[in-house]
Amino acid sequence: MSSFAPSAPEPSPGSTRPSGSGPYPGSALAPDRFLGPVIHRLRAAGCVFAEEEAELLVTSARSPAELAGMVDRRMAGHPLEHILGWAEFRGLRIAVDEGVFVPRRRTEHLVRLALDLVDPVDAVVVDLCCGSGAVAAAIAAAAPGAEVHAADLDPAAVRCTRRNLRGRRGRAHVGDLYDALPANLRGRVDVLIANAPYVPTDAIDLMPPEAREHEPRLALDGGPDGLSVLRRVLAGAPPWLAPGGHLLLETSAGQAPLLLDAVTLGGLTARVDVSADLGATVIVASLPRPG
Ligand SMILES: C[S@@+](CC[C@H](N)C(=O)[O-])C[C@H]1O[C@@H](n2cnc3c(N)ncnc32)[C@H](O)[C@@H]1O
Repeated sequence: MSSFAPSAPEPSPGSTRPSGSGPYPGSALAPDRFLGPVIHRLRAAGCVFAEEEAELLVTSARSPAELAGMVDRRMAGHPLEHILGWAEFRGLRIAVDEGVFVPRRRTEHLVRLALDLVDPVDAVVVDLCCGSGAVAAAIAAAAPGAEVHAADLDPAAVRCTRRNLRGRRGRAHVGDLYDALPANLRGRVDVLIANAPYVPTDAIDLMPPEAREHEPRLALDGGPDGLSVLRRVLAGAPPWLAPGGHLLLETSAGQAPLLLDAVTLGGLTARVDVSADLGATVIVASLPRPG
């Protein structure tokens, strides 16, 4: 770990922030002493959002030594969210441990769509392949009357999810896809959401090092065409859905037509929903009501 010696305050270009510790009441370190040097080091390492990241690191560190370690790890390519221990998702601070997938902004679109579909006071929602549980926590926060379940094969992810669901009406389960779910959810799920791994195996090497070196392969690898896990999610969904229930699957724009065909063959009606602002593509499938 390098030692981190603060130099004189260095005003950040374009910043209108007043000097002094006023805007950072919770910070253990004096931001004016530490921000400039951290910005400088992050910029030198090619960090695009050096100012924003420096502010988060400086205000999170409890000592100069801890700050030095955090900056070293960031410069070595660790995701900022793993260093901080949290990611922002729909205005919530979602706990994300090392080795757990970092929730992406685009996945907020799944939450928007789910909230449009659920009755906020009486709905059963499942977040399959939940990772940190960002989707489940955001739904439980926005629809506190909903019964929310989240599941993942990775116990480390489920530990994060449990923390993120604390104090909310949600439970987290460990296991392979539907095997993890309590049997009494069969036929009762109003909205089943999955942001499953969907990167084709050969494309993992092309991902930014932050993702391919620090996020688990289990969270990324979707098999030869990226759809192996999603096809299993799709095939297993009908017995769990309530009549008229919905299945929301995040995918890529390129994969959407293939996945749409698979959904339709499975007897569900489906459409593709694209969010231009978040760069998200979601398959919205629905189980017809009998009669
Ligand atoms: C792309 S990450 C998404 C995590 C979370 N839904 C989010 O949006 O932040 C995919 C997640 O699927 C989980 N996963 C992969 N295969 C699984 C399986 N067979 N059963 C359950 N979870 C699985 C991984 O552990 C990982 O947490």
